[in-house]
Amino acid sequence: MTTGRFIALEGGEGAGKSTQARLLAEALRERGLEVVVTREPGGTPGAEAIRSLLLNGVAGDGGENWNPRAEALLFAAARSDHVHRLIRPAMARGAWVICDRYLDSSRAYQGGGSGLSDAEILDLHRIGSQGLLPDLTLLIEVSPEAARERLARRDAGDSDRIGSRGSEYHDRVAAAFRVLAEGDPGRFARVEGNGSLEETHALILDALTPLLRGRV
Ligand code: TYD
Repeated sequence: MTTGRFIALEGGEGAGKSTQARLLAEALRERGLEVVVTREPGGTPGAEAIRSLLLNGVAGDGGENWNPRAEALLFAAARSDHVHRLIRPAMARGAWVICDRYLDSSRAYQGGGSGLSDAEILDLHRIGSQGLLPDLTLLIEVSPEAARERLARRDAGDSDRIGSRGSEYHDRVAAAFRVLAEGDPGRFARVEGNGSLEETHALILDALTPLLRGRV
């Protein structure tokens, strides 16, 4: 049986992950592969419903609705549905799955940003998604200035409940991503995302070479 591959794109706000996910999907389709592009939180109807709660909050609850543990559980619940209903079936039929954010966002945001321990986040992932890890996690790193500029253009001051947390929060998130990538160089590839779309795309294709070798 052929099994597909699972690639996650990670990084802070304004790193350009969604655009790079699309460009990567096109490049892989040109090689004749079946590609599924998806995102977290979300990707299935159940997980998209949880996404809307997480990013918009709940009316009448004064802004910061979920405590960090409840928030981590909601991300893990959304991921569980996504893994079981979309990611695993796609891989089982041989597709390549490109996911805009995955587990390492929980480790960086709910862990590094909000203070849960990494072991707690990994426990939730084991319970919810049987610990499924990507074959490759691309961490796109941009300078804080470049990220701010892109976000200002994209969100025009209207970022979601998590994106709008302060710069100290997002600095902790970025630092956590770095530590995760340094701790697991076999799964992570760090990609410098300050250049043009094309430059970043080329770096991503380079990082994929080992995965593509021998398959197409
Ligand atoms: P999204 O608009 O998809 O973010 P971006 O375009 O910046 O990638 O919103 C997802 C938000 O949810 C983002 O602020 C990161 C956050 N998030 C977590 O805090 N934990 C998680 O596990 C995931 C998947 C996302």
